[in-house]
Amino acid sequence: MKEKLEALKAEALEKLQAVTDPQMLNELRVKYLGKKGELTEVLRGMGGLSAEERPVIGQVANLVRSAIEEVIGTKQELFQQQETQNRLNAEKVDVTLQGRGLPQGGIHPLSRVIQEIEDIFIGMGYQVAEGPEVETDYYNFEALNLPKNHPARDMQDSFYITEDILMRTQTSPVQIRTMQAMNGETPVKVICPGKVFRRDDDDATHSFQFHQIEGLVIGRNIRMSDLKGTLQQFMKEMFGPSAGIRLRPSFFPFTEPSVEVDVSCFKCGGEGCRLCKQSGWLEILGAGMVHPNVLRMGGYDPEIYSGFAFGMGAERIAMLKYGIDDIRYFYTNDMGFVKQFKGI
Ligand code: PHE
Repeated sequence: MKEKLEALKAEALEKLQAVTDPQMLNELRVKYLGKKGELTEVLRGMGGLSAEERPVIGQVANLVRSAIEEVIGTKQELFQQQETQNRLNAEKVDVTLQGRGLPQGGIHPLSRVIQEIEDIFIGMGYQVAEGPEVETDYYNFEALNLPKNHPARDMQDSFYITEDILMRTQTSPVQIRTMQAMNGETPVKVICPGKVFRRDDDDATHSFQFHQIEGLVIGRNIRMSDLKGTLQQFMKEMFGPSAGIRLRPSFFPFTEPSVEVDVSCFKCGGEGCRLCKQSGWLEILGAGMVHPNVLRMGGYDPEIYSGFAFGMGAERIAMLKYGIDDIRYFYTNDMGFVKQFKGI
């Protein structure tokens, strides 16, 4: 029996040496070590051996088994390495290949204008403040000197959510929120950009949703001349050094006196053209000295403190600046429109 086992081992090892692929290897494994394999077959005959012979043969059989297993293991590892190598060869990456270009993006003209305005005012020492788009009637109207049933509420048709909550119609509520947050400290110097909502029918110059940028300054001895100088400086930085401004009397419930501010037409320099409708001036913003009631509601004594505020529409400025003739272009995500602003 011992000879049989040795012969089996010799035969198996020889055949295994010649194996060239994993499938053949598996077949030989089954042939020799499988349940119905040849080694198992030989071991079955052990029942007929004497008690002395059995452990001796058993030991030989184990040695044969482990010798065969070892060769199979080595071969298996070799095949695995070969396979990995083949896969690596096949998947070679050509690092010199030209990459796929990413399309160049651009900043939306509205965001660009808002950023530009923010930058100008930050340069003058202002901070940027934001507030909620869903507001209470108190912040949007009442604290801005617009009590319930005040006729001036009609100037801004509103989307009400409940009787007391609405989509803000202006960024002016941020004035009150900022004043309250400042707790009576001065100077207050903020600009507040943001979305506002009004019940307007959309057309080329109206949208139910647009953007305002509000400015507020409060301190001691803040005068109308400070407002004028600030706006003059802003317009020069925004529209060029030759930009001039003019103030026209106007009305806002939260400022007194109130003005409408025009900038000299940057296209014709004031001569009169299609953009300025031959007037030489472009209407840009509303402004005024903060009303004493508003100061009081924000926690500032109007006997000691004064301030100015102004508000402008981002869409209008972007339309003038880039010659856009329909406000709806800003919101429709027409790629043809948006792409014109890439890289500027
Ligand atoms: N909130 C005003 C509007 O929407 C604009 C404005 C702001 C006017 C601040 C004066 C001062 O019409």
